[in-house]
Amino acid sequence: MASLHDATRGRLLFGGDYNPEQWPREVWEDDVRLMHEAGVNLATVGVFSWALLEPRPGEYDFGWLDEVLDLLHSGGIGVALATPTASAPPWLHHRWPETSPQDPDRSVRTYGSRNAYCPSSAVYRHHADAVCAALADRYAHHPALRMWHIGNEFGTVCYCDGCAETFRGWLKRKYTDLDGLNEAWGTRFWSQHYSEWAEVIPPRKVQYVINPVQDQDYQRFASDLLLEGFKTERDIVSARNPAVPVTTNFMGFYKGTDSWQWAPEEDFASVDSYPDPNDPLGACASAFAQDLTRSLGRSTRAGGWIMMEQSTGAVGWREVATPKPPGLFRLWSLQALARGADGLLQFQWRASKQGAERSHSAMVPHAGPDSRVFREVCELGKDLAGLGDLIGTEVAAQVAIVVDWDAWRAVELDHQPHSGFRYVDRIYEYYTALWRANITCDFVHPHAELSGYRLVLAPNLYQISDEAGRNLERHVEAGGTLVVGPFSGVTDPDERVRLGGYPASLRELLGIRIEEYWPIPDGVGLRVGSAELGDFTAATWAEWFDQAATTARVLARIEDGPLAGHPAVTVNGHGAGSAWYLATLPEASALGRVLRRAAADAGVGPVLENLPEGVEAVRRGDRVFVLDHRTREVEIRAA
Ligand code: GAL
Repeated sequence: MASLHDATRGRLLFGGDYNPEQWPREVWEDDVRLMHEAGVNLATVGVFSWALLEPRPGEYDFGWLDEVLDLLHSGGIGVALATPTASAPPWLHHRWPETSPQDPDRSVRTYGSRNAYCPSSAVYRHHADAVCAALADRYAHHPALRMWHIGNEFGTVCYCDGCAETFRGWLKRKYTDLDGLNEAWGTRFWSQHYSEWAEVIPPRKVQYVINPVQDQDYQRFASDLLLEGFKTERDIVSARNPAVPVTTNFMGFYKGTDSWQWAPEEDFASVDSYPDPNDPLGACASAFAQDLTRSLGRSTRAGGWIMMEQSTGAVGWREVATPKPPGLFRLWSLQALARGADGLLQFQWRASKQGAERSHSAMVPHAGPDSRVFREVCELGKDLAGLGDLIGTEVAAQVAIVVDWDAWRAVELDHQPHSGFRYVDRIYEYYTALWRANITCDFVHPHAELSGYRLVLAPNLYQISDEAGRNLERHVEAGGTLVVGPFSGVTDPDERVRLGGYPASLRELLGIRIEEYWPIPDGVGLRVGSAELGDFTAATWAEWFDQAATTARVLARIEDGPLAGHPAVTVNGHGAGSAWYLATLPEASALGRVLRRAAADAGVGPVLENLPEGVEAVRRGDRVFVLDHRTREVEIRAA
């Protein structure tokens, strides 16, 4: 099987996106020399090279790429070769305007930037497949080739007539007939009943609120459609040499593509991550994407993950592009290794002097190799050279956070009770509490096998399948601990509200019955009293319980306003385990107390006890990484 493990050849991968086509030939020799000096062993090539590889339809120019790959190979540098299909050349859009994507209002996104293609266009597909095949015919056995990098950050959505037709095909497979669609979409509402397939369209610009299931189905379809494109390109390149592993770069918590469905189609996972150095919780944001990618890596065909892109410093697209201060690039890089990465690649090798990304940092900055940044790059290269034994070692976690793209899409549909209730914020709050406590966690799909985890957190499962409900129940029955966040268990996968008191499918498990959701306007705090957890303030959300039907033990109650006396935190014994419910959003310190308490009850502790705030500890294999995110001296006692 093609694996990341083989691609590393015993050395942690280090390097970055390499765009030699932006530079004259003399610079390439210099690049290889400097890469060698920096300990670079992998360059990602060709991501946006389509227009130069195929300057006119069917007319290929591989001469320059032959030279680049040979040169890299002679310098001992491997290649992650990209299929260049993320950005089609102007000739494609100019000759076949239908290959450009359309917005919901049917306006066209034209060429002159990148990523503008219609993913259902047969013309785009034909030319994309052809260039992939030509590239793979030529390089699938090139000695420098270590992996294929399919496209780039898949995410383009289009609403054109071609996509409408493809969407109808997707819907026919899902619902078989129009009766099925009408029922699932609830089209008796607002005179939306469809009587012919041709009437069914994407959720385009409408007069008022769009049908929620039409909206959610289109999001599912858009992810599936892009995945089809990924698989087509993967199969083209793999057919030419099945020993070369294939990946595509995910974007962490990116709503547009359901990574649980994508990961099993890749040989290993990879991610692009750009936390903000100005964010006091930047290290946590960085760990968040890394832990997700590690978790996704487990469901890939051969396992493992790498950081496909990060920056050495300033990120060009940020409104305030502050560089990373000295040491931060190394610190966040070591963090990725601690959390399971087998490679660290940056965007990009040499800073562009032209084009939209001319203000983005790189491994070789505009100042050249005589610079702080390049020296830090070389230092990191040295660190990595000594850490090859980390490759393939695991990060073990006893805690899992449930993440579900369907719940995410659904809770953010129009006309929810609180438009500020954002899914990833909910996940991140729980994650942050664990990160601060140095409790390592994985992310899991709601249907995942949970028996390896003592504590499972579901910060939000607004939309929930019956199977997910049973899975959580099994976990608790078998002695596990579960924490469920507010506004969970509300609808089924067709966005039908489950009736009879919320959260219908989790009521018994949680020992609660809720009659009404009670969103709170921004800026209003709720006082919550708790002898066991300590008093705290909560915000954004509360719930009106049917207190007579609530059998769970109440650990905290709201103290003011119309909900005074209603529970804020409950815990219910069920089978051999216990199920907690949070009916509100406690302030960060209180959420930390609740989750630490649930973890302690579940028998889960931090990687190292009593670390000063801002010191992160992660165990990978038999090593413990201790990372200080504050600049000061600390004393650590290792157990
Ligand atoms: C990524 C992209 C790269 C580069 C980078 C800049 O989203 O894949 O090509 O644009 O951002 O931060």
